[in-house]
Amino acid sequence: MEWIQKLKNIMGPDIISDENEVLENYASDHTEDFVYLPQVVAVPNNVNEVSVIVAFCNKNNIPVTPRGAGTGLSGGSLPIAGGVSLSLEKFNKILDIDEVNFQATVESGVINEAFQQAVKEKGLFYPPDPASKGSCFLGGNIAHSSGGPKALKYGTTKDYVLNLEVVLPNGKIIWTGADTLKNSTGYNLTQLMIGSEGTLGIVTKIVFKLLPLPKHDLLMLASFTSIEDACKAVPQIFINGISPSALELMEYNAVDYVIKHSNLSFELDTETAAFLLIEVDGNDKNQLFTDCEGINEVLEANNVQEVQFADTSDQKEKLWKIRRSIGEMVKLHSVYKEEDTVVKRANLPKLMKGVKEIGAEYGFESVCYGHAGDGNLHVNILKGEMSDTRWNGPHLEEAIRKIFRLCKKLGGTISGEHGIGLVQKKYMNEVLAPIHFELMKGIKKTFDPNGIMNPGKIWE
Ligand code: MLT
Ligand code: ZN
Repeated sequence: MEWIQKLKNIMGPDIISDENEVLENYASDHTEDFVYLPQVVAVPNNVNEVSVIVAFCNKNNIPVTPRGAGTGLSGGSLPIAGGVSLSLEKFNKILDIDEVNFQATVESGVINEAFQQAVKEKGLFYPPDPASKGSCFLGGNIAHSSGGPKALKYGTTKDYVLNLEVVLPNGKIIWTGADTLKNSTGYNLTQLMIGSEGTLGIVTKIVFKLLPLPKHDLLMLASFTSIEDACKAVPQIFINGISPSALELMEYNAVDYVIKHSNLSFELDTETAAFLLIEVDGNDKNQLFTDCEGINEVLEANNVQEVQFADTSDQKEKLWKIRRSIGEMVKLHSVYKEEDTVVKRANLPKLMKGVKEIGAEYGFESVCYGHAGDGNLHVNILKGEMSDTRWNGPHLEEAIRKIFRLCKKLGGTISGEHGIGLVQKKYMNEVLAPIHFELMKGIKKTFDPNGIMNPGKIWE
């Protein structure tokens, strides 16, 4: 194709490739089993190269799909319209950690955990910790405002971004805000970019704010013979005056699939229906023990089966590994679709009950787990024995719609932290009205009049 040759001539073969083996490496992410080949993979080294590529695509109406580590769960980085898959993998430098102002400037292809470690070594703390923190890029975290367990006490990615360097769809390079803790200067372009899933521009640098690293944490695992009891305990912990740094729910089958498909061992009691994994953190150890006593009171009032404390850092790490590997292990167990439901915290028991009823009605097993403290439950729907026609057709779509209608009824919405991307866009009309689409499309048009930037995502 003529445009491919032209782009190769401009950028050179080290940056632009259309070789099949390369294209295949950029055709999938962690969303179900989708494969969409781009026509070209671009791996630029710096922001000026991103700008040249994007400006070329804009002039020639070529779709550009920005790509981080490919760990997304809603298909945001799938190049569904062909064109260019633009990878930020070379943007892997931590440029500055400012220990005086508690800020850091990074390129958008830095791995989340590498950043967390680097700031930790200086006694600083970057809380957002998605399950894929060992491989996901911070730029991808910006695309979805990713959360993770610590979002409960500390907020999601959006709460830590001060300023962004962005390549706009016309190739212009801008900073969206200022490197300040406060900024009340016109529309908030920084926050507009966060969660926009690469549809408004390509983030190349990020200025984050940081916190002091909490000195201590305690972790407890509580088992319940009834999921409803586990869910009911969740809001009561807060009502009892305690604000945990993480409060995660794991259904029995979630832990069971981790044990079956990984080398992690854990003794499961078949009477257990669900677990709560609860962490408290802070600087005053005695206060944390008092918090745990307060949590224990709530657990006992809700018929807890057993409470175990993780005494060593190895035990803590193991429990967190079990929790973090659920998504991956469920994927190994069965073809699945993942829903990222979120409701008001106290409505969690109703959400869980409703999901199970819908599963029984439509004939699927669901594996539920996630950020109970945030009311954010990941519902993995397993294909099991369901026919391909039912799985891919209106049957399952209707079931998922019912789940999302229930979320709305319970004061929630259809994604808490995974984004809309490709797979959830058909359900957006369950929670948004025509006026919302009109406003969002108007914003899109202002940024990207030619519609080249990650087309086909967020809405139909
Ligand atoms: C999680 O909380 O485990 C993540 O959001 C990832 C996943 O659900 O697979
Ligand atoms: Zn999650």
